[in-house]
Amino acid sequence: MTGPTTNTDIELLPTTAASDPTCTAHLYGVGVGPGDPELMTLKAKRIIEQSAVIAHFAARGRIGNAWGTVAPLIAATHTVLRLEYPVTTEAIPSERYEDLIAAFYDASAAAIAVELERGRDVAVVCEGDPFFYGSYMYVHQRLAARFPTTVVPGVTSFSAASAAAGVPLVSMNETLTVLSGVLAPDELKQALADADAAVVMKVGRRLGDVREAVRAVGRAEQGVYVERASCATERVLRLEDTADVDAPYFSLVLLPGDGIDVRRRDTR
Ligand SMILES: C[S@@+](CC[C@H](N)C(=O)[O-])C[C@H]1O[C@@H](n2cnc3c(N)ncnc32)[C@H](O)[C@@H]1O
Repeated sequence: MTGPTTNTDIELLPTTAASDPTCTAHLYGVGVGPGDPELMTLKAKRIIEQSAVIAHFAARGRIGNAWGTVAPLIAATHTVLRLEYPVTTEAIPSERYEDLIAAFYDASAAAIAVELERGRDVAVVCEGDPFFYGSYMYVHQRLAARFPTTVVPGVTSFSAASAAAGVPLVSMNETLTVLSGVLAPDELKQALADADAAVVMKVGRRLGDVREAVRAVGRAEQGVYVERASCATERVLRLEDTADVDAPYFSLVLLPGDGIDVRRRDTR
């Protein structure tokens, strides 16, 4: 493959070589796992310790989850770039949101590029895995063709959640469907109806809709709700026991496949 020829071709951005050979500084997208510092890889830890600049995304007025995980590794010699989202959960028209957020990622990439041009390695820390709904991907999209870049994968939140719940997610030939809780209720129901096993991310205030959708496909008893997986404040509940739960942003729902249980599989 020599490069994209149509809009549907995937563009493979370089991850080891920069187009500007005079730039020696390195950009790292570092997955730091779901919250428990012990679930950070050795490679992530080394890169954070060795990079001059640590960049992290955060909601206005909040400590970012990734920052909370890596804070003990930050030394006085590190320069910290806090990249604060311009919007949080305010209801604004989607076009306006898209403009604001695109401008924010442009400005974040520009601030990171300044450090790289000064010859300083930048590690952008990201909760979970950087390429699984991670904001780092928008920086990568803007800078990976210009600077030497490495992405360090991380333990995703849904892996930590299924481990916390003690629930195997998929087995045999089952397919795992990953969904966003922000989907319209009908879309969510349809996707769940078609799924062997599913993970619903970004649950938060949509927990009631997610619970209804799981009930609607007749699998209410299988649903598991997990918040802050692997953190000190982790909570695991049967989805059916969440009527009074005020779900935080860091929550998800697991709908495990039943391939592991041959008797249930044969009767469904
Ligand atoms: C922007 S996505 C980031 C996903 C992350 N990159 C990953 O690899 O899991 C944020 C969503 O991930 C889920 N999430 C992240 N960390 C979590 C945790 N520790 N426990 C439960 N859900 C979590 C929540 O559904 C949250 O709304």
